[in-house]
Amino acid sequence: MERNSRSTHVFELNGRTALITGAGQGVGAGIACTLAGQGAQVVVNDIDPARADGTVRRVRDAGGQAHAVAFDVTDLGAVADAVRTFERRIAPVDILVNNVGNAGAGAFRPTSFRDTDPADWRRFTEVNLFGVMNCVKAVIDGMAARRHGRIVTIASGSGVIGQGIGVSLYAAAKGGAISFMRHLAIENASDGITANTIALGLIDPAASGREATRTRELAAHLPVGRIGVPEDAGALCAYLASQEASWITGQTFHLNGGSYTS
Ligand SMILES: NC(=O)c1ccc[n+]([C@@H]2O[C@H](COP(=O)([O-])OP(=O)(O)OC[C@H]3O[C@@H](n4cnc5c(N)ncnc54)[C@H](O)[C@@H]3O)[C@@H](O)[C@H]2O)c1
Repeated sequence: MERNSRSTHVFELNGRTALITGAGQGVGAGIACTLAGQGAQVVVNDIDPARADGTVRRVRDAGGQAHAVAFDVTDLGAVADAVRTFERRIAPVDILVNNVGNAGAGAFRPTSFRDTDPADWRRFTEVNLFGVMNCVKAVIDGMAARRHGRIVTIASGSGVIGQGIGVSLYAAAKGGAISFMRHLAIENASDGITANTIALGLIDPAASGREATRTRELAAHLPVGRIGVPEDAGALCAYLASQEASWITGQTFHLNGGSYTS
């Protein structure tokens, strides 16, 4: 790919198309803006079309290229149809960021496993694990045929370490997604596809329209002295999506301001 000498891109994503799921707000919106800022054309997915449109406007206002594609990641048929249509009309997907997850307050009520039932188990697994598998399934054959692909999944520190009471379902599903990425990486490395995970720590709730009541107190407990912003995840995604990261695959990166180190 030709480098644009006038660009200020750290990572050259010019000519690449990136699908980011759940990018209508929060972490996903920040990732979409960062990847677009590095030259990628971004496909902004969300289950809520108005939210997806909002991020598209943000990207375009900043001079980037973006398209909104609404679907529910838990619906394999809908994911496959949307990706097929987009790829036929616009461009193949080179980069997939699996960002959807149900961690937020309201969607996620910390509950001890003993107080949950199979409907809860299914809900967390469908969104955080099946959602990832559905999106990978929709893009991976095309990536393999083109012998290039970048897959990044946004998980959580709780998918790797024990982090407290009430998150067992979320952590189990995120742990599954992390393990899925590791093995996907090994199976597809020889086709030029990398697969990595970001195990994310606390991101500013305001980015997700949630009340940021204990932000200062929580920040004080972090070695770097601040909680994260969506663009922190965007920067690591941009690197993992780049040509420069072609030797990095099957890894889990802890991105958490130093709250957990390994
Ligand atoms: N925010 C945090 O502090 C934090 C910490 C660790 C990990 N994470 C992970 O980061 C990711 C993003 O978190 P966030 O807090 O920005 O989320 P969020 O709730 O702010 O945004 C998620 C977006 O995904 C959309 N969405 C929900 N279900 C969907 C579905 N089935 N299909 C398509 N879109 C759907 C929602 O409409 C929403 O716009 C998640 O995977 C989460 O588990 C977040």
